[in-house]
Amino acid sequence: MSRSHLALVLLACTPLAAQSLRDLADQRSLRFGAAVNPSRFSESDYATTLGREFNQVTAEYVMKFEPTHPGPTTYSFTQADSIVTFARARNMAVRGHAFVWHISNPRWLTTGNYTPEQLSDILQDHIKTVGGHFAGRVYAWDVVNEAFNDNGSLRSTIWYDGPGIGLKGTEYIEQAFRWAHEADPKALLFYNDYSAEGLNAKSNAIYEMARDFVTRGVPIHGIGLQAHFTANIGSIANIESNIRRITELGLQAHITELDVRVAVDSSGRATDAVLATQAQIYNNIVTSCLKFPLCTSIQTWGFTDKYSWIPGSFPGLGAALEFDANYAPKPAYNAMLNALRDSPPVIPANGLVNAANYTGDAVSPGEIVTLFGANYGQPTLVIAGADANLRLPTNFAETRLLFDGVAAPILYTQAGLTSAAVPYSVSGATTAQVQYEFRGKRSNAITVKVVPAHPGVFTLDSRGQGAGAILDLSHRVVNEQNAAAKGAYIQIFATGGGMTRPSSADGLIASAAPIPELIAPVSVTIGGIDCAVQYAGGASGLVAGGVQINALVDSRVPSGLQPLVVTVGGAASQPGVTVWVK
Ligand code: G3I
Repeated sequence: MSRSHLALVLLACTPLAAQSLRDLADQRSLRFGAAVNPSRFSESDYATTLGREFNQVTAEYVMKFEPTHPGPTTYSFTQADSIVTFARARNMAVRGHAFVWHISNPRWLTTGNYTPEQLSDILQDHIKTVGGHFAGRVYAWDVVNEAFNDNGSLRSTIWYDGPGIGLKGTEYIEQAFRWAHEADPKALLFYNDYSAEGLNAKSNAIYEMARDFVTRGVPIHGIGLQAHFTANIGSIANIESNIRRITELGLQAHITELDVRVAVDSSGRATDAVLATQAQIYNNIVTSCLKFPLCTSIQTWGFTDKYSWIPGSFPGLGAALEFDANYAPKPAYNAMLNALRDSPPVIPANGLVNAANYTGDAVSPGEIVTLFGANYGQPTLVIAGADANLRLPTNFAETRLLFDGVAAPILYTQAGLTSAAVPYSVSGATTAQVQYEFRGKRSNAITVKVVPAHPGVFTLDSRGQGAGAILDLSHRVVNEQNAAAKGAYIQIFATGGGMTRPSSADGLIASAAPIPELIAPVSVTIGGIDCAVQYAGGASGLVAGGVQINALVDSRVPSGLQPLVVTVGGAASQPGVTVWVK
């Protein structure tokens, strides 16, 4: 057993330390955050709890228009930068909030009697300056916040019609998204609102806008559901329907400002019964989000009842968060832990792809595949080693990938990314049911098409395009500096070759003859010219399913960078793979 294996076994044997929200969120590849006020970072309980429990922070106030843009030509980022500094020191992500809102705008703006053209210039300058300042340090922004009324009409604001920036309907929102994308092309851009978590006139209007934006290629990446709840959050089914329709647009859903305000006495205390009801709501929301791989962030609006906006805004209500005023975890905290720990993983219908070319239209016996999007797994990448019998494990790092119930040998795994070799037992079937399992929690099943061969050529950039993973007979990588010679053999590495003779054993690392060879006929073209195939099959050191193809570079092949295609049993490898020829 390898050292890393031994370490993993030991880890698995020792009782896991009490896991924090952050520990479990990391296993969910979920960003779990809280709104913060940087003036409180000096309070040790505040800072310690944040670093232990969250992998994301957002600015409750200091990244808004008023604090970042205090004068027509002055910007101030000191407080906002301190959030980024705090987060980076703790390997936390920063979520930005918010460029465009009708609240927290400075007096110079709201009393300036600007024309629409002037407001447009001001807003463009604001978004580009603030977005540009945080580019690369803030991974997502609430670009526009609370632009709709409860009845689905657009709210009258300085940016829309008071007097607005000179655009009609949602055009001003679109314009803000376009400016934000110019400011930071890598940032994820969200529309954020409250009372639009379930299905209602407001969420319908937001959804229609989002669908229009997606259709027209407006740079929007998600919808933020603020989730400021009372004890009556309405229909969970409707909230899930809303998250489903958002994610079916290909957009992400973020729970951005979760808190559940409840009745409190004059000292701000709630009864145990009320706190239990609150805990169930927290559990429901986390459980619902985890049903959708594209629900990728949950944030509470603050995290301790010591600092919450609720009591000042809703007299008689409070105790809305997961930690009490002394930073002790409340039932709501444990309810979220339970949801993160106990909810089954979910895998996306299109999550399983060929590990070489990322095509997900089918799988073939032995094919090395990668499953993306499973939202429960190891927090960091763990790589499997072969056992004493040179077999890769089918139950590794508490993870299994099942094809019609047969566990596949695993190459590596982490939350959201698991690579395995399809069991040869799928041969002859036309489809297979695929399930992912972590810590005994089994995912939904997805149906994948099964074909005899589904070749993908590995590439040097591991993105399935460009220079193929190809060696010359001296086992040197073929590239522009070491182009393949005509009349010489090259070794092409691929997967998806299908059944072999003799039969291959799932997960066996090839070591001794006879190494199984592909049964289906194999051909190779370079630059469109047929090149003789001398060998196609397993290779010493490769797991069964990994394929080496030895081909002779035909003298007729043109020199230079040439397209290379492998065909197995009539199925061609992906376009876009190349090889340099002398
Ligand atoms: O920190 C300054 C202080 O330096 C200054 O002297 C004082 C003068 O008014 O203002 C202080 O800033 C206050 C800020 O909170 C920081 O505490 C602002 O006045 C106050 O308006 C601001 O309130 C925030 C409010 O948004 C308006 O920006 C709340 O903390 C914050 O919880 C609330 O959050 C909003 C979300 O952004 C959008 N969704 C609703 C949510 C609740 O209203």
